[in-house]
Amino acid sequence: MTNHEKELYDAYEFIISKIDTKPEIALVLGSGLGDFADHIEDKTIIDYKDIPGFPVSTVSGHEGKYIIGRLYDKQIIAMKGRVHFYEGYPIEKVVMPIRLMKLAGAETLIVTNAAGGINKSFNPGTLMAITDHITSFVRSPLIGKNIDSLGVRFPDMSNVYDEDLVNLIHEVSSDLNIEVKDGVYLQTTGPNYETPAEIKMFGLLGADAVGMSTACEAMAAKHMNMRVAGISCITNMAAGLSDTKLSHEEVKKTADMISDKFTKLVKEFIRRI
Ligand code: HPA
Repeated sequence: MTNHEKELYDAYEFIISKIDTKPEIALVLGSGLGDFADHIEDKTIIDYKDIPGFPVSTVSGHEGKYIIGRLYDKQIIAMKGRVHFYEGYPIEKVVMPIRLMKLAGAETLIVTNAAGGINKSFNPGTLMAITDHITSFVRSPLIGKNIDSLGVRFPDMSNVYDEDLVNLIHEVSSDLNIEVKDGVYLQTTGPNYETPAEIKMFGLLGADAVGMSTACEAMAAKHMNMRVAGISCITNMAAGLSDTKLSHEEVKKTADMISDKFTKLVKEFIRRI
């Protein structure tokens, strides 16, 4: 067993010692969904800093805890605050929280994030169902000795985002009268925003949105055979596509503006899964 595998299973033992239910749905709360945890009932909260070997997020606006509880009739494990590669952790540490949610029992993963819009038909405030991703610019979280207890060495990635779940997002959004577009998400390492030339290249490569998270998490989840759904909140047009200078403040401001709509969509989506 590698050190990392041991670390993973030690953290797993710690988590299951704290909970007495088996989570079904794992949820990563990106910018704009930070208050989502308020809707989860019968909560158990586990601070990341108390989990042995767990990477702790350092980004402002990203708290670090698992919220475990019930939403409607579903058992949920939610991450309030995620870990980003740009914080300096090895990539396998960045996906450790995702692996732990699967080990705790969750078979479905919903990832959410704030992203820059590359598709010119998007606006700040657009919600996008992720249909596929490009993660070739970020080191794969599966590099290193394969953890056979999680998944196979050479996992198929032709269907990372579950088609039925994408369809369900659209069904829910149309019933709630919330517009949701489809698109391909491209992950960069960050922490810098992109240059206009990079955004032009990403557009040519087929990306509709760009962000600094999510795709590596989805890949680790797919490696473990989870059903994955992803929703991006387009908080800004990507570099060079508008006159506004990019800033974390703008991202947070748009994410906050859209959070009621985003929360409503994700809640109803979970109810119908
Ligand atoms: N680029 C990268 N990540 C982001 C952006 C962006 O424009 N907006 C929100 N997260």
